[in-house]
This record gives sequence, structure tokens and C-alpha cells, in this order.
Amino acid sequence: MSQEAADNAGLGTLKRSLGVTQLVMISVGATLGTGILVILGSAVPVAGPAIWIAFVLAGFTALLSAVSYAEMAGMVPVSGSSYSYSYATLGEGVAWICGWCLVLEYAVSAAAVAVGAGAYVNQTLEIFGLSLPESLAGGPSEGGIINLSALLVVLLATVLLVRGARESAMANTIMVLVKIAILIFFAIVAFTAFDAGNFAPLLPMGAAGVTGAASMVFFSYIGFDAASTAGEEAKNPQKDLPRAIMIAMVLVTTIYVLVAVAAIGARQWEWFADSEAALVQIVSEITGQRWTVLVFALASVIAIISVVLMTMYGQTRILLSMGRDGLIPRFFAKVSPKTHTPVTGTVVTGLVVAIAASLLPLGQLAEATSIGTLFAFALVGVSVMYLRKTQPDTPRTFRVPLYPVTPILGIAACLFLMFNLAGITWIVFGLWMIVGVSIYLGYGHRHSRLGAMSQTSYQQELEL
Ligand code: ALA
Repeated sequence: MSQEAADNAGLGTLKRSLGVTQLVMISVGATLGTGILVILGSAVPVAGPAIWIAFVLAGFTALLSAVSYAEMAGMVPVSGSSYSYSYATLGEGVAWICGWCLVLEYAVSAAAVAVGAGAYVNQTLEIFGLSLPESLAGGPSEGGIINLSALLVVLLATVLLVRGARESAMANTIMVLVKIAILIFFAIVAFTAFDAGNFAPLLPMGAAGVTGAASMVFFSYIGFDAASTAGEEAKNPQKDLPRAIMIAMVLVTTIYVLVAVAAIGARQWEWFADSEAALVQIVSEITGQRWTVLVFALASVIAIISVVLMTMYGQTRILLSMGRDGLIPRFFAKVSPKTHTPVTGTVVTGLVVAIAASLLPLGQLAEATSIGTLFAFALVGVSVMYLRKTQPDTPRTFRVPLYPVTPILGIAACLFLMFNLAGITWIVFGLWMIVGVSIYLGYGHRHSRLGAMSQTSYQQELEL
């Protein structure tokens, strides 16, 4: 449903308040986080010194999809991101599957990332000689009762999101600047101990090690598409959304490769197998300063809060689109005339994410976020190809370069990384899909708005 139709249906509309800088920050905010801070350390033993190539490979895969996102976001600047693109091109059933995958990309990763915050909060408290009681330091699977830090991070994000998109975007911008600063600080310190010899042999684990690591670090790129969920809050969506997605992608990839090269330059790849918090350990060993650990821990908490904030932002906007289409309850689509935010939808999303983050063991589900995201990315490539064929003359503010090679390569790269993920991840993904299809058949299909209108009139509503 378009914004205008939503207004006519009494659901209220979002407010256009975001410029290109804030849109870039939304994508960077949702992207830069645990992937580079934590997963880098565990992926080095898999790839060896070629870990930076794994980041380039994963980044290239994301970039191939980013250009498809940019073309679609320019054409269909609504809140639903790839869910809406699929809806307008491939129909309701595929769109539901896409939307259900996006729940993995946004809500589930928000919960999983919030759990990571707990570890950093505990680390920060330890520096001050404090600690949380065991019952509050982790959920039941970790021997506690509740992960209090994760709970507080999610609740904080929920409050900000309810207050307004502009307020959330401003808070996010500050947090993004902090996390970029800390990663640049890391790179500068690590380069003072740079040893080119650490890069030989480049591929001790073979090419398979690099592709395996690329699948692992793909998680660090999840979220670059978050700007596309701000289609109805951007001041100039047609022009700014494609630009924001591309700028965010280039910025994030550059930072990742810089950090990966700096880390390997500073320590031999075998060292990473025994290190838990590799980046902070490198900084504290090189500088010999204890305060660096504190600064890193605090900055990491901030980095994680902004990922949670922006992934939850994206989730609420996707759910808003799905609610408008009748696939989930309509309260998700109701926008408050006072704050111009989907208040009820945001509170419900916040509560579900908070419960999941504070109580559930999310390890396996976190890995499933990558598989779900890759699937949604592949669908965006398919949507681009579909519209190029069916509507070749519709004006586009951004065009995928080297068409059709780029989207075909993008789809193939997504499938390749999906097949490189562990078997258990596929099982979790399969179960997730069974639940999703059951919800669709039990609720969405029966309440769908499309049931009452044709696919063509839906496209007309979106001005396609
Ligand atoms: N890309 C996000 C992160 O690395 C999910 O934390």
C-alpha cells in the first residue's frame, strides 16, 4: 500500500525528515558492529592472513546486491524495502517469504547483537572492579535468569524509536561517529606494529578457508540496506536512497578491509585462535595502556546500541508495510499523528526483541540471519530483472551498471555464500520457513488486501 492510500485508510503517514547524510548513517549504523568487532577474530583462524580477501569477497557480494537495492529503492521508495519490491514484482507469496527473511535480518539480528552487548557491558564493569550478579548477566541457557544489559539496550532503542525518526537518526549519527573513530584508532595503533611478514603464507587454509570465512563475515555487512526502509521518511527518496546505500557500502567495506589488514599486520594469524576480543587485546598490548580497554569496551557498547537501534528501526518500517498489506495485524501500520512513528508496532517489536534478547540462546538463530538476508538480497536482484523486462521505460534514478551481468552475478554470489553456510544453519532456516509459511496460510493469506485487488492496481498504487 502506498503512503497516500495508507493515509486514506486512516492509518496515518510517516514524516519526511531525513536527508542523505542521515540516510547514510542509518545504513552504517545498522551495519558496523559485532561483525568487525567480534567475528573478525573468529574468522582469522578459518581464512589465515587472507581474511582481508574474505572481507573483500563478502563486501563484493553485498555490493552486487547493493546496486540492485539502489535501483529498486529509487523506483519504489516506500518503507518495506525488499519486501515491497518483491510484492510489486513477484507477488504476495514471495513477498511474504521475503518479509519473513527480513525478520531474520532485522529483528533477530537486533536481538542477537543485543546479547553481544551484555558481554561488553560486563567487560566494562570489570574494569571498574564491578560485576553484575550471575542471575542478571545472562539468560537461562547461560546459567542466569535474564540478560539485563541486552534487555536495557533494546528498551533504550525502543524508547528512542517511539520518540521520532529524526531523534533516532540524530542519536544514531553520534554513535556512528564514535564507532568509526574507534576503528580508525585501532587501525592507527595496529599499523605502528605492522609486520609485512605476517601476510605469508597468504592462504594457509586454502581457497576454501577464504570462502568459508567470507560466509562468516558476511554478517558484518548485514544492514547496509537499512536506508531503503526509510523510503517514506526521506526528504528526497528517489535521489537520496540510491546514493545513501552506495556511499554506506563503500565506507563500510573500506573500514573493514583497513581494520583486517591492520590486524593481520599487527599479529600472526595463528595468534587469533587463542584470543577472545582480538581488536582490544591488540590495542592494549601495543600501547601498554589499560585505559584503551575501557575506551574500546565503551565504544563497543555504543556501536552495538546503534546496530540494535537501526535494525529495529528497519524492522518496524518493514512490519508497517506488511501491516498495511494486511499480512500481519493492522496495528503495525498505524502511525501516531503526534510522533509520526508507528508507536504500537514499535512497542510490540521492542518487547518481542527484548524478550528474545534477554532470555533465549540466539547463537544458531544469529547464523540463520545471514542465510535469510542472502535470500532476501537474491530476491532484490530478481526484482530488478523483472522490472527491467516488464517496465523497461519507467524512469530510474539509479541503474544497475553492466546489466544484466551484475544482478545475475549478485544472485549467484548470494546463493554461493548460502551454500557455504553450515548444515545446521540450513536446518534452522528450514524450520524458520515452515513457521513463516504456516503463519501466512493461517493469517496473512486470509486477511490480505491483495485478495481484494489485482497485482496491477497494487503496482499502480506504487506508481510503477
Ligand atoms: N552487521 C551488523 C553487525 O555486524 C549486524 O553487528
